[in-house]
Amino acid sequence: MNIKSIENFEIRDGRVILRVDFNVPVKKGRVEDNYKIKRALPTIKRLLKNRNQIVIVSHLGRPDGKKVKALSLEPVFKELKKLLAGNGYKMKFFPQKIDAKLVKLVNDTDVDILFLENMRYDKREDENRKNLAVLLSKMGDVFVNESFAACHRKMSSLVEITNYLPSFAGLNLVQEVNYLSKSLNPKKPAVALIGGSKIHTKIALIKGFLKTYNKILIGGGLANTFFAAKGYDVGGSLFEPDELRRAKLLLKSKKIILPKDVLVSDKSRKSVRLVKVARDKVLCEKNEMILDIGPETVKKYADEIKKAKFIIWNGPLGLIEEKKFSHGTVALAKFIGSRATGRAIGIAGGGETLLALKMAGVEKYYDFVSTGGGSMLQFMEGKVLPGIKPLIIK
Ligand code: 3PG
Repeated sequence: MNIKSIENFEIRDGRVILRVDFNVPVKKGRVEDNYKIKRALPTIKRLLKNRNQIVIVSHLGRPDGKKVKALSLEPVFKELKKLLAGNGYKMKFFPQKIDAKLVKLVNDTDVDILFLENMRYDKREDENRKNLAVLLSKMGDVFVNESFAACHRKMSSLVEITNYLPSFAGLNLVQEVNYLSKSLNPKKPAVALIGGSKIHTKIALIKGFLKTYNKILIGGGLANTFFAAKGYDVGGSLFEPDELRRAKLLLKSKKIILPKDVLVSDKSRKSVRLVKVARDKVLCEKNEMILDIGPETVKKYADEIKKAKFIIWNGPLGLIEEKKFSHGTVALAKFIGSRATGRAIGIAGGGETLLALKMAGVEKYYDFVSTGGGSMLQFMEGKVLPGIKPLIIK
């Protein structure tokens, strides 16, 4: 897939509408994790170096067309200001709603970065409405999309706007497309490690991967639905009864590998038991839950990963928010890191996967880390994302 980008079309001395995905965790007016903001910095810096002014547009959370104070982008603006400090750039935040008055105000303001308030305060954003896109387009002369994580959404400032301005991808978006495209036709042997809690968000992906991947290693909450489909009692573990039928169909393939052992605990988390999967049909009691993969699974999965020339990983394999259930995920995060950028191509992504990479401290050893959550999954399913479609060179 070839897309129009600021890499092959240098934008100079203009005013750029830059759509970013600064949908980051904000607590008590402070950004808790600035990872996604940092990933947009190369594009921001390149545009500024070329003497462009930038109008930054993003959403935060899901305010559903209402002004929700806790979802203001002002703390994100301040975080960006901190990250760019020392460069002498002038920046201004605009809390106003999007209308003709704001368009005039923005156009009359001569600073380097003009940062607009949460686009989803305006219900026209999620409706991909024309009149909102037209107003935004009047604030600039070029549109740049640097919001891969939002590209699966049809939003006005992301999709409709491309009908009114020459449109290009930012540097990170290009990388996302290039690396994730490799996952569609991976080097063989190819191994996918898929975790996370909800199987219904990943079942289409797993089905698609059965055609192109040699092994699909399963962990996290979604393994429980597979266990249940095989007739295991998963007690009080998270699983999706509605997906049992589809899970059963997938299990006809020998490519799907389930955990060999799991860690089980109850609500109090006082004691943790290791349960061997093959031995017993009851993996845990009603008051217990499966919370991590066990050491035998880590070894088995590492052996499969070792054979691979291409590894893709999405979703944690246990409840990583609690340290004692993060070991399986952290061990495999490190192991993939030891194979990537050399022996194999190693790609990871997804909100909680980013957290796991941070915990393991191995992000830099991966060939690529995607900023996408739902967008990464849909891209790997082979869908053409609505945010990317208008940028494709035909
Ligand atoms: C994300 O963080 O995955 C994107 O910003 C999309 O957010 P949404 O699921 O609220 O549309």
